[in-house]
Amino acid sequence: MQAIANYKPNYKQMKNNYHIFKTPDELANKMAFQLMDWVYNHDENIYHLAISGGKTPELLFMTLASKYSSSTLWEKVHFWWVDERMVPATDPESNFGNAQKTLFSKISIPEKNIHRIKGENDPKQEALSYSTQIQKEISQANGWPSFDLILLGMGNDGHTASIFPDQLELLDSDQVCEVANHPSTAQKRVTLTGKAINNAQKVCFLVTGFGKAVPLSEIWINTEKANLLPAAHINPNGGELYWYVDKPAAQFLKERNPGSSE
Ligand code: 6PG
Repeated sequence: MQAIANYKPNYKQMKNNYHIFKTPDELANKMAFQLMDWVYNHDENIYHLAISGGKTPELLFMTLASKYSSSTLWEKVHFWWVDERMVPATDPESNFGNAQKTLFSKISIPEKNIHRIKGENDPKQEALSYSTQIQKEISQANGWPSFDLILLGMGNDGHTASIFPDQLELLDSDQVCEVANHPSTAQKRVTLTGKAINNAQKVCFLVTGFGKAVPLSEIWINTEKANLLPAAHINPNGGELYWYVDKPAAQFLKERNPGSSE
């Protein structure tokens, strides 16, 4: 992991895998299709997928539930979390709780395939035990567990996972998971760290809404300010980076990526 000071996102790679969609619906439909295609073509019989919380993934989960509920591919998919709010699963804030409601309750997926972060536990303890579980179950590359795919969102402040601009050190942590604190609510989170995320085979950002347009353009243009945005530091070593964005979020991107036909 390059030191934060001289980090320069490899934005050219970003440009190769940028996809701009007219609406969040179109984005969710394409992402759902792309996910199932990646799972189908995966040559191992387990696909380790880490999902984020927040509003954007919800549309994807609802699309997966409506279009692929009877797929047998769910047997292959093991769900992990990029981050979790340290609250009980029944709390409306729970990322697991929301995925359970919008997706898992609507598809046939073995319970053993769902590896939730236990929000009801002590955050420090849970960060340690989740790291151990990941290292035990997910094969390694470069000495780190390597998820097949990590789906990330991005906040209006450029945070991703639960790595916030005031906690950039989590990008360079040698732990797989760490405890983070939400900057305004002080809510405790358990999050994958930058190195764990950047060791994935594929990372795909799902970014929608006007509120994301400024940080997205900072990252796209690769400005000095981008250095202070956690999302700008996500660039999987040797893996693939994709950005699925909608038009409002992409409004300041100077040029359309030739590869995006949406
Ligand atoms: C979380 C997420 C977080 C999210 C961003 C974007 O637990 O909140 O992991 O990183 O992806 O805050 O959230 P929206 O998709 O709701 O804009």
